[in-house]
Amino acid sequence: MFRFMLAPMEEHTDSAFRRLCFNHGADLTFTEMAKIDGLARNNKPTVNKTLRLDNTPTQIQILPGKDEMLEKYLKSFKPSEGFMGFNFNFGCPAPEVQRVGRGCAMVKRVTKANRLINIVRKYNYPVSLKIRLGASAFEKKVKVYMNLINGSDPDFFIVHARTGEETYEDKPDYSVFEECVASGKEIIANGDIETPKALHEVKKMGVKGVMIGRGACRNPAIFDLLKGKAIPSFDELKREYSALAEKYNSTPRHKKNVLIRIGQKFAPSYLENKM
Ligand SMILES: Cc1cc2nc3c(=O)[nH]c(=O)nc-3n(C[C@H](O)[C@H](O)[C@H](O)COP(=O)(O)O)c2cc1C
Repeated sequence: MFRFMLAPMEEHTDSAFRRLCFNHGADLTFTEMAKIDGLARNNKPTVNKTLRLDNTPTQIQILPGKDEMLEKYLKSFKPSEGFMGFNFNFGCPAPEVQRVGRGCAMVKRVTKANRLINIVRKYNYPVSLKIRLGASAFEKKVKVYMNLINGSDPDFFIVHARTGEETYEDKPDYSVFEECVASGKEIIANGDIETPKALHEVKKMGVKGVMIGRGACRNPAIFDLLKGKAIPSFDELKREYSALAEKYNSTPRHKKNVLIRIGQKFAPSYLENKM
């Protein structure tokens, strides 16, 4: 089945927003990124990012670090209804994250990636990778992302078709999907997929799904819209979200971020350089 996924987005994709998107066609959702060190130490604000308050299909997104930290966290992790596994963030372009070999610096670290995948598999949980095309234009040119795709075996890869150097001003390069798909691995396309035209373009390359981020902030029913279904008005979506945010005790920041974006035509500039 071709799948529509809601992208992980800091200070947006808490339980309320994930449920809203699930109610309107998202087949799988992701928590905002949580750093493994905080999870392993049971740091409350970090753990809160991974809360699942209902049965919405959700993968927990982790920014991995040391193997032992992942082991420590998984030892005491309790799955809940709707929990669909873990996703590793190999796409974060923040310099302080890359400097310590994490985020999109992980795209070239195939051996380490396999160790992390194997740790999750030991506990019998599904695991996916969200990657960029490498940290730089050079890494893209030498196709480090293909080494990772060919050299590791998570359940699926989400490929954000930009490098860590590129911003949202740069057009994602959908041409890479063809080779990614030819690897035989399950590939989910990400980056500016908001219209039937973009959906069609990546679908015909054989990807098994799409992940949508900013488009879902502007229209949380974009999933049903792209599936050809009728969708509610923005006012109705705002009302539905507000009730969910109340029920799930969303933070004022989450509420503000979500409510100002619904119905917006373009992403505000401060969204431009995120992951
Ligand atoms: C506000 C914001 C927060 C984000 N936070 C995360 C995150 O926590 N983890 C992650 O992997 N990507 C994060 N991203 C990147 C998105 O998941 C996605 O890869 C990116 O926005 C491209 O998809 P789009 O063009 O559909 O928005 C974030 C993006 C935005 C705009």
